[in-house]
Amino acid sequence: MTTLLINIKELIQVRDHSIKKVSGNEMKILPTIKNAFLLLKDDRIVDFGPMNELSVSADETVDCTGKMILPAWCDSHTHIVYAGNREQEFVDRINGLSYEEIANNGGGILNSAKKLQETSEEELYKQSSVRLEEVMKQGTGAVEIKSGYGLTVDAELKMLRVIKKLRENYNLPIKATFLGAHAFPSEYKNNKEGYINLIINEMLPKIASENLAEFIDAFCETGYFSVEDTDRILSAGKQYGLTPKVHVNQFTTIGGVQVSVKHDALSVDHLEVMNADDIETLKGSETMPVALPSCSYFLSIPYTPARDIINAGLPLALATDFNPGSTPSGNMNFVVATACIKMKMTPEEAINAATINGAYAMNLSDEVGSITKGKKANFIITKEILSYGAIPYNFGSILIDSVFINGKAI
Ligand code: NIG
Ligand code: FE
Repeated sequence: MTTLLINIKELIQVRDHSIKKVSGNEMKILPTIKNAFLLLKDDRIVDFGPMNELSVSADETVDCTGKMILPAWCDSHTHIVYAGNREQEFVDRINGLSYEEIANNGGGILNSAKKLQETSEEELYKQSSVRLEEVMKQGTGAVEIKSGYGLTVDAELKMLRVIKKLRENYNLPIKATFLGAHAFPSEYKNNKEGYINLIINEMLPKIASENLAEFIDAFCETGYFSVEDTDRILSAGKQYGLTPKVHVNQFTTIGGVQVSVKHDALSVDHLEVMNADDIETLKGSETMPVALPSCSYFLSIPYTPARDIINAGLPLALATDFNPGSTPSGNMNFVVATACIKMKMTPEEAINAATINGAYAMNLSDEVGSITKGKKANFIITKEILSYGAIPYNFGSILIDSVFINGKAI
C-alpha cells in the first residue's frame, strides 16, 4: 500500500539518517522543504522532495494544500499509567500548601501508589489507554512510560504489564522504564536500605525475567533517593541490561547529573536547578538533558535553564512528564509553546527538542523524530497555518488537522 501526500506547504524536520540528535547552534536550524511531496509505503517514509521533482503515483493521494507536515512528537518522559487523580492536592496547593508539604503529609507519590495498589490491572489499563489515545490525537507518535506508582513488587509489575499491554494494542513505539526508586513507601521510612534491597533483589530480577523494561530510573533528590542510593540502583539495573534515564535536579543539585553520567545514562530529566559543574559534566557525555516545562508551569518552580544548556553547545530534549502530581497534561504542543515563552527557546530549537532529540532520549532516533527515508511514517499534518512558528505562538491552540501513525491516519 502506497500513499502520496502532495502540495505540502512545508515539510518540516527533513534529516539524513546519520543525524541522531542536534546540539548547541545546530538546534537553531530546522531543515524544511517548501511545496513538497511525501511518499509512504505501508508504515514507512520512502521518498520526499519538492513537488517539481515528483514523478511517481500511489494507491492513495492526500492533498495537503496550505498545510504543513512535521514528525510526530517524541515524548521521552511520562508517567501516564496511574490510577485516579490528585485533584485534591491541586486545590490544597492553591490554598497555600507546598508540593513538599503535601508529600511530607503522606500525599504526593505515596497517595498515587495507594490508589494504584487498590486498582485492578484491567481498570489501570482502561484509564491509561484513555490518556494514551488523548496524547496521540495531540500529535504524540512515540512515548516513554515509567512505573513508579506501585512501590511494591506486585504493583510495580502490574504497572509494567499495563505498559506492555499498551505496546501490544497501540501501534506507536512505547518504551518502558522501571522507576521502583520513585519514593520510599511509608513502611520503609526508617528502613531505606530495606526498600533499596527490595528493588535490587526482588523487583529487578522479576522485571528482567519478564522483559518488562528497557530503562531504569530513580528520583535522585533531597528527601528521596541520595546519590549513593541512585548509584547502587543504576549499577544493579545495568547488570540486568537496563539503561539509566534519571530524574535529577528537580529541586536541588546534589550530584544526580554526575552519578547518571558516570553510568552512561541515556538522559537526565528535569534539571530545573543546575550549576556550572552540572553543565560541564554533561559536556563530556552522550547523555541527553531533558526539560519538562509543563511541570515547572504546574508547580510554579523554576524552568530548566535551556539557554545555558544550549549555549554551552549541549543538546536539549523536551517532554511532558505527564503524571497525576506535578504535570497532569500530556500535551506536547503546550510543552513546545511553553519552552519558547518561558525558556526562551526559538521555535526551531523547541521543535528539534520535541522531535529528533526526544527520539534520542528513548533510543528511537533510528525509527522516529524526523522526516527521513526508512523511518516510521509517524507525523502530524497541521491545519492551514502561515508558518510553523504558529505552533508555539498560538499557545493553547492545537493546530493539528490529522496525525499519522505507521502510515495511517488515526
Ligand atoms: O517527574 N519528580 C518525581 N516524579 C514525578 C512526579 C511525581 C508525583 O508528584 O506524582 C515528576 O515530576
Ligand atoms: Fe517524571
